[in-house]
Order: sequence, then structure tokens, then C-alpha cells
Amino acid sequence: MKMEREVVGVAPAAPFDPQIAREDFPILRERVNGKPLVYLDNAASTQKPCAVIETLTQFYRHDYANVHRGVHALSQRATERYEGARETVRRFLNAPSADEIVFLRGTTEAINLVAQSFARPRLRRGDNVVITALEHHSNIVPWQLVCATLGVELRVVPVNDAGELNLEGYELMVGRRTKLVALTHVSNAIGTVTPLRGMIALAHERGVPVLVDGAQAVSHLPVDVTELDCDFYAFSGHKVFGPTGIGALYAKARHLAAMPPWQCGGDMIRTVAFGHTEFADAPAKFEAGTPNIAGAIGLAAALEYVEAAGLQAIAAHEARLLDYVTRRLSAIHGLRILGTAAAKAGIVSFTMQGMHPHDIGTILDAGGVAIRAGHHCAMPLMQRYGIAGTARASFALYNTTADIDALVAGIEEAKRLFR
Ligand code: ALA
Repeated sequence: MKMEREVVGVAPAAPFDPQIAREDFPILRERVNGKPLVYLDNAASTQKPCAVIETLTQFYRHDYANVHRGVHALSQRATERYEGARETVRRFLNAPSADEIVFLRGTTEAINLVAQSFARPRLRRGDNVVITALEHHSNIVPWQLVCATLGVELRVVPVNDAGELNLEGYELMVGRRTKLVALTHVSNAIGTVTPLRGMIALAHERGVPVLVDGAQAVSHLPVDVTELDCDFYAFSGHKVFGPTGIGALYAKARHLAAMPPWQCGGDMIRTVAFGHTEFADAPAKFEAGTPNIAGAIGLAAALEYVEAAGLQAIAAHEARLLDYVTRRLSAIHGLRILGTAAAKAGIVSFTMQGMHPHDIGTILDAGGVAIRAGHHCAMPLMQRYGIAGTARASFALYNTTADIDALVAGIEEAKRLFR
């Protein structure tokens, strides 16, 4: 299969100074277990800049009311800010229209919506859905649920030892009965950046729509859904410096128009009578009930923060960190890095001979270094490598080489304790 491998977008960019960014994140001045906090668990969740914290406070102090309902000034102000946030998400993803942006609880809810409202009505016994071996549970289990009840096959594109997708396998898997491809942009467990453009183009040549799980991509790489031409792109606010409980789904207008509502309630209808209900157009059709208004406004503040820093500059900074951490960890005897794909984002997963990942995590925590240890909600990928889990350090724009030095010192300490 002739498909260019994509590399992380690291075009020359203005130098990025993580020290300046650190000033924007008050939590980074915390001490943990008597040590300065070294926060390397960004793939689980990112910290929040003052811009987001203050936007939330300011909104609750001055502008708060419910949206789309009141004629009073505060409701109008809140509605303007909520719909303004939708426009910010549109701009951030370069989507054609703000009507193609649905606010949801996060990536998980977005994928479940597509599985239930888009896929379920289209699937017939004998069809298949294609996912990859890199997926997070949230891009596996919703498909399993739908496939199992309908007699639909779930096909999984395998990965090689480096954590790269087998593109020849992918080409063979996307067939006449494939109804959807659902794949991650960046692997949360091992950092692989998938070659989306080619994979989407191939699916489209065969008339198959594509959903992209962008949860781990949006804080690391520029994302342009128009250029990617994906059908769906989902992400979570809390992984891109925004609040928890808010995320967005981009979906092409024609798909949203064809999808029935999944959850029903207030604000998603045009008229209701006991005999018949007429639904509102998208995106309102998918936002039943009072939404996470402050969350959406806080998310917009986070995206504006990222835009001001510049995603090309952030990507270049994190590529330098990834290069540095890979060199430092490779020099540690008994340490194995999982995931050595040519295209990777700022995530490094590793195991240590004779040590459980939780022991590594606990010893690092004692030194103030926060990482995640375990299966990272990607158990099938761990099974592929014959392990139960890894220790994982994941980077954000505010991390520095000094953070990596602290990580390495903690690992050396763990080795000493386990000798
Ligand atoms: N999906 C998140 C992670 O990778 C929670 O840690």
C-alpha cells in the first residue's frame, strides 16, 4: 500500500519558552511529598492556566445564567459566550461551520454518540467496523457493544513491535461491508501518531466514513479537520488545558442531519406535543438538557491559550523533549521503551526489569514526580506486547528537560531500592 508515513508537524517555529508558560500554571508551584511538583501525567489530564481558571471565576461571578432560554440580560450574555465558545472550537479545528460542533462530556461521550446514533442504524449482520490495535478502551468498547448486538464484525488493524500500524493489513481490512473506520490520532499508551491522511483517503475511496479519536492529539499537534477530511473528530477539554466534563465532536453537517437524537430533553426540540415531537437542527439536537455552559466557555479560553502559544511551536518543543527523554531512558540498563514509532507525540511508555510499573510510579511520586502506571485503558495493546502495563511519562508545553532529569533521577532511585 503506497501511503506516506506522516511525521509530527515540526515545521520551523518561533522558539517556545516553557519557563514563561510555567508562570501561567499556578499548580506547578505546588510541592508534593516535600518536593517541587514535576507533572508528567499530561496524557491523563493537563493542568489549567490562569486564563482558564479566571475565565471560569469571571463567568460565574458576572455572567452566569442558563443558555438559550431567558430573555433577560444574563441569559443572553451566557448564550453569547456559550455560542462564542462553539465558534472558538470551530476555528481551533478549522471546521467549515460552528453548526458542525457538538458540545459533549468528552471524547468518550462523543464516540458513544457516533456509535449509537450514526453507526447502529446503518449496521447490518455481516458488516464490519474497523478499529486499530492502538485504541483506548473508549474507542473499542462502544463498537464492541454495537457490533455484538447486531452480528457485526469488529476488525482490528495490528501494530508492529515499534507500535506502527500495519497499513497493508488496513488496506485489506477495509472492504465492501465496512461501514466505519474509527481510529486514534495519537496513541495515549505509547505515543504513536497515526498516518491519518492516507488512512482517511483510502477509506473514502471505498466509501467508508472515518471517526478520529483526537483526545491525545489536540494539545500536541495542529489539527485541521477540513484538510484531514475526516467525518468525525472527537476530543476532551481536560486534555487540552480546559475543564473536565466538557469536550466536542466535529461531524460533517450531512452526517449530523441524518443522525437521530440519542438523548432527549429540553433544548433539543422545535415543538413537542404528546403525539409528536419535532427535533431542533444540529448541534442543538444532540445537546439535550442544560449543557456544561461554564465548561464550554472555559474550554474556549484553553483553546485560545493554546492558539496564542502556537501549536507548531508546542509540537517542536515537545519533539525536543521526546528526543531528550528517549536518549536519557535508553541509557538506563534494564529499561525498555514501548513504542518507538517514527512519528510520536510527547508520550514515553516504559517497563523496568524486575519492577512493577506501580512500584516505579510510587517511588517517583515520593520524589514529587507524577506519572501514570498501568494499562492506560489500552489493555489489548498491552496484551499485544505481552505485558500487564507500563510506566508512562507524558509531556505538555510547560515541561522542561529539568523535569526529565527529575524523572531519570527517580528511576535511578527506584533501581537502587530494588537492587
Ligand atoms: N485516557 C487517559 C490516559 O491515557 C485517562 O491516561
